[in-house]
Amino acid sequence: SQTRTHYKFVVREARYTRLCSTKSILTVNGKFPGPTIKVYKGDTIFVNVHNKGNHNVTLHWHGVKQPRNPWTDGPAYITQCPIQPGKKFRQKLVFSTEEGTIWWHAHNDWNRATVHGAIYVYPTKHSSYPFPKPHAQIPIIFGEWWINDVNEVFRQSSETGAAPNVSDALTINGQPGDLYPCSSSETFKFNVEQGKTYLLRVVNAALNLILFFSVSQHKLTVVGADAMYTKPLTRDFICISPGQSMDVLLHANQEPNHYYLAARAYSSATGVGFDATITTARIQYSDSYYTPPSSSPSLPYLPNFNDTQAAFNFITSLRGIPERYPHKVPTNIKVPIVTTISVNTFPCPSGRTCLGPNGTIFAASMNNISFAAPNIDILEAYYYHINGVYQPGFPRFPPSVFNFTEDFLPLTLNIPRRGTKVNVLDFGATVEIVLQGTNVVSAIDHPMHLHGYSFHVVGYGLGNFNRSKDPMNFNLIDPPCLNTVIVPRNGWAVIRFEARNPGVWFMHCHIERHQSWGMETVFIVKNGKHSNETLPPPPPDMPPC
Ligand code: C2O
Ligand code: CU
Repeated sequence: SQTRTHYKFVVREARYTRLCSTKSILTVNGKFPGPTIKVYKGDTIFVNVHNKGNHNVTLHWHGVKQPRNPWTDGPAYITQCPIQPGKKFRQKLVFSTEEGTIWWHAHNDWNRATVHGAIYVYPTKHSSYPFPKPHAQIPIIFGEWWINDVNEVFRQSSETGAAPNVSDALTINGQPGDLYPCSSSETFKFNVEQGKTYLLRVVNAALNLILFFSVSQHKLTVVGADAMYTKPLTRDFICISPGQSMDVLLHANQEPNHYYLAARAYSSATGVGFDATITTARIQYSDSYYTPPSSSPSLPYLPNFNDTQAAFNFITSLRGIPERYPHKVPTNIKVPIVTTISVNTFPCPSGRTCLGPNGTIFAASMNNISFAAPNIDILEAYYYHINGVYQPGFPRFPPSVFNFTEDFLPLTLNIPRRGTKVNVLDFGATVEIVLQGTNVVSAIDHPMHLHGYSFHVVGYGLGNFNRSKDPMNFNLIDPPCLNTVIVPRNGWAVIRFEARNPGVWFMHCHIERHQSWGMETVFIVKNGKHSNETLPPPPPDMPPC
């Protein structure tokens, strides 16, 4: 478990073969998935990023809260302009209260498909895990592989307005597993010893897919989510969304044998295409007297791809450990926000043929505003008082109230407006956000992610949020403390946080398709009164716009 304080990340193209087809992908240091960052809780480290690829790129440290340091957070046109080919950017990572597994990924275009890796945050040297020390730690990074160039896949869909093509394989640590055609050698394998316990450091780096995963014959115990420990939750299967990470214990307590770790997509949207194939990794008991059989192990139980109840039950079962919260659950809410999160459509411009629903263009929105990225990043515009880049006044309530989750809502109901609207918050504001899923074009789960913070998820529900009834059931005792929350299909989730990290922080759906369509907003948190509550000046090597 060697940690380092300086990393060198060279972004460059590399040739990789999957499913018997070779293509050039963007990587860090030629690796896919990229290198693992290992730190102790509370460390500050530096990553020297050198872009030697052919594309603009930015790197984001997902779940690293970066107190007073939005400058090197990474989302393109939110906190920085992209690092151009040939250019460098030295990024500071300030770890504070995180402990467990998080990750890093590219944060422009669709580059994060191949530009991502895990971050292990170990307990400080004088403390320990809230569970027995694991015998070994194993990364399980889920991803998606397209045979074609990923940015090209998205570019084509935005030209036609259609949904982008689904991926050709789900992967575990970059490998599709032996159930795909032409992939028998492309399986991640790891050895275990009978009687030992292993810490799986699980990241869902897939672009568009929420996943179920499980291990045959073994139970899984979740002990952490989004780098915050949780009460142990033992289950036959786990549900994890893009953006989320989990610490999961696996007890090697079965007969020596080979077992599958398997995952497949969970899709709550009926009629939307996705890759239904199962991705596999193999766990092999390494006891010396045991010879593995030549046949494949049997697959573990996984819920049906459309089992929304299984997903909902799992998602809502996670509980936090109050003694370990980095901050209390806010109770005296000063800034209540209610926002719809919708998949919408724009009308087809005249003279064009559009391939979205009923000849439209797919879009997505929050409170009916489809976010338009500016040409100068919002953080610099804010810091240097550059006018015209963004507008304050993101609506704090939906512009029109309707039955959000009713079936067959007309496509024309809410045609969103394009805009770059931000939420400006006073330092220390206690914020509650009701995230209300809608059924405007299609109902689907949305994993909503906030930069710069972790938030408490105080409630979840199906259907329309009911302001007079639902708050009575909020969990203010042991809600999970996350950076990404799955808002259930045709349902809602309520999050709370205290705005004590000044700067500019992105919030968006972590389904890449939805983010590209505009399901996002920005929080600007003003400076506090004290010198340790203010935004410091930018580093000298900020990439120019
Ligand atoms: Cu994991 Cu804004 O990102
Ligand atoms: Cu979404």
